[in-house]
Amino acid sequence: MRILKPFLIVFFLTVLNSGYSQKIYTEKDIQIIPKPNQLLIQPGAFEFSKSTKFVATTDFQKEISTALINKFEKAAGWRPEISAASPQSNFIQFKVDQTLNKEAYKLEVSAQSITITAKGNAGFIYGLESVRQLLPNAIESKNVITTQKWEIPNVVITDEPRFQWRGLMLDLSRHFFDKNYVIETIDRLAMLKMNVLHLHLVDDQGWRIEIKKYPKLTEVGAWRVDQENAAWNARLTTNPDEKGTYGGFLTQEELKEIVKYAATKNIEIIPEIEMPAHVSSAIASYPELACFNQRIGVPSGGLWPITDIYCAGKETTFEFLQNVIDEVIAIFPSKYIHIGGDEATKTNWDKCPLCQKRMKDNGLKNAHELQSYFVKRMEKYINSKGKKIIGWDEILEGGLAPAATVMSWRGTKGGTDAAEQGHDVIMTPESHCYFNFYQGPQNEEPIAFDGYTPLSKVYEFDPVVETMTPEQAKHVLGGQANLWAEYLPNTKESEYMIFPRLAALSEVLWSSKEKRNWNDFTSRLPSLLVRYDYLGINYAKSAYLVTAASTADMAQKQINITLKNEFPNPDIRYVLGDKTLAGNAVKYTTPIQVKETTIVKASLFQNEKLVGKIFTDTIIFHKGVAHKVKYLTPYNNNYKGDGPYTMNNSIRGSKNFHDGQWQAWLVNDMELVVDLEKQESVEQVIIGTLESQGSGVNFPTQIKVLVSNDDITYKEVGKISRPYAVNVNSELKDFKINFGKQNARFIKVIATNLKKSPKGESSWLFVDEILVN
Ligand code: ACM
Ligand code: ZN
Repeated sequence: MRILKPFLIVFFLTVLNSGYSQKIYTEKDIQIIPKPNQLLIQPGAFEFSKSTKFVATTDFQKEISTALINKFEKAAGWRPEISAASPQSNFIQFKVDQTLNKEAYKLEVSAQSITITAKGNAGFIYGLESVRQLLPNAIESKNVITTQKWEIPNVVITDEPRFQWRGLMLDLSRHFFDKNYVIETIDRLAMLKMNVLHLHLVDDQGWRIEIKKYPKLTEVGAWRVDQENAAWNARLTTNPDEKGTYGGFLTQEELKEIVKYAATKNIEIIPEIEMPAHVSSAIASYPELACFNQRIGVPSGGLWPITDIYCAGKETTFEFLQNVIDEVIAIFPSKYIHIGGDEATKTNWDKCPLCQKRMKDNGLKNAHELQSYFVKRMEKYINSKGKKIIGWDEILEGGLAPAATVMSWRGTKGGTDAAEQGHDVIMTPESHCYFNFYQGPQNEEPIAFDGYTPLSKVYEFDPVVETMTPEQAKHVLGGQANLWAEYLPNTKESEYMIFPRLAALSEVLWSSKEKRNWNDFTSRLPSLLVRYDYLGINYAKSAYLVTAASTADMAQKQINITLKNEFPNPDIRYVLGDKTLAGNAVKYTTPIQVKETTIVKASLFQNEKLVGKIFTDTIIFHKGVAHKVKYLTPYNNNYKGDGPYTMNNSIRGSKNFHDGQWQAWLVNDMELVVDLEKQESVEQVIIGTLESQGSGVNFPTQIKVLVSNDDITYKEVGKISRPYAVNVNSELKDFKINFGKQNARFIKVIATNLKKSPKGESSWLFVDEILVN
């Protein structure tokens, strides 16, 4: 046994006496999301124990303290008590400072006490949420952990949000989610210091709010014929006489409970009552609300275009809506009512005598102006009740209602236009805020909307557009994630789409722009994910998935494969060939050089363990790889693929047509020449394509292959034709054209675009890759 030197003994005794492990905290240990704006770390820590007192002087302080005390009871096995007065030490207290902004807080932690200073309840909530995130992740445990020390570092945090609107929209119509899920979501929003929950309560596929004056809205409109087993867009039109069995709704009592609970978390519930479109469920209940009293069933799935809309000519439509709004106002204290306003196809209005009369009487030139009349009239009513309206950016068309707030979803243009007109704006552009879009490689993900919004993209979002003047920027209230629920049959799927993207959004909306840093965010994220594990939240791990990109080396005729995931400096390991990763994996550091057909398998590793799914791809090395391609018809600028060798880089496009591998032609045919640079014997050309008819992407109708040795005279060697066929799925297809052996240098490929879909939409042609064998 070694003899301890005297000074070491003194040191150990000091540590033992103090009762602390003397952990030195650094900024790395502070993993709060969203990132606080000012943080000062001081030596030492505060340790929670059974005898810690929560000094609460108001009912509200008692209530929020109890929420954290309950966590100690579960995770630590003891309950700190609430006390009316401060003891000498070992307490947490709330202090009012009227000079602070509404949601700001200051958190001061010393070894003796914790003080949360705020103007009022909102700041107290956020201060306490920060205390929660400073505590070890195990505070979220539902089982007692006796070995844990419940300390938090001595810090001074001064914090407040950048934006006043930090929201999430849940679509309760396309699939019904009950009160419990809404309440759980409120907790999860509050944890990220988000403050708005927008409930999309009305849509074609289900009316989800009890309206006592119109009971059929929920007797009929809340239920649809159950076709849950079929793909959303493949569901059949329902007969109005067939009884609906899938659905549900929230009673007024339940909604009041939700509102009340949300207030304890500083969350405002915004009800959305769609009009004039997205209301098939209302028309199924009361056909007289439509122009021609048409009887329809509640649609069981996809519906497009939306032509069954409220009649704008009948006075009874407005009477109905005003009565509905009266009941809505009595439930929701928010100053906002969202009236929808999106995606109305107004063909019935053009045909309906009453709508036509309305237009004539009011000097309205077209259906857009009639919608504007509709919205303005409802706004006037809602304003008369002391409330303001929000509408989707379509409400700009035909003239904006005088005091409307615009929710900009079709990009940010609607938002910038509205801000220019002096209106308030909430930015929810599809590109960054639609959480119903894919968040990872499409082949690996549950079915979602065609669109790609990975975690890193959400983090790049900024609600203020660069071109805005400071005056216009002041009208940007903030931003919001929208989660449409067509493809979300249950809460697990819903959670998967929300988390962890909501964490990224929370930081965009809370933290100052200068504080935002992707590397730093991704270093704090794992701690939040551990909490989500404790809380049983089914968050997505898509950001961990490894994906491949490649560049072609013309001179060496080789492919350089780059492996990455969304995080900086990931520990990616790979194998080439048909081997397992376990035991064979090599750490990825620089691009992998491939000169022949090879299988690549890769995965992320953490602490020497494989995490997430394994990426597998077969790099098919064909005669065209890394040779020049000449485009006789240019590809569309929005789909340029991955550089000049996209068509022959041996990396194949996935079902996600935004994956950066695809090149696309809108209406035009694809015509290109692959230059093999010397004569080669060739006998087959394979053209990889994609179809996703819902997004206007169709397979080619014909493919022709021609060969030449001088690039002047070409000989046709093969052709296939394929007539258009309805396809409800997103599908990858290789068209193979075989021909007798040819000695040729130039290979011309012509793929014919469908040009116009049966619906009359311009057609996209997507191609990747062109293999020459
Ligand atoms: C929307 O996505 N139709 C607002
Ligand atoms: Zn009408």
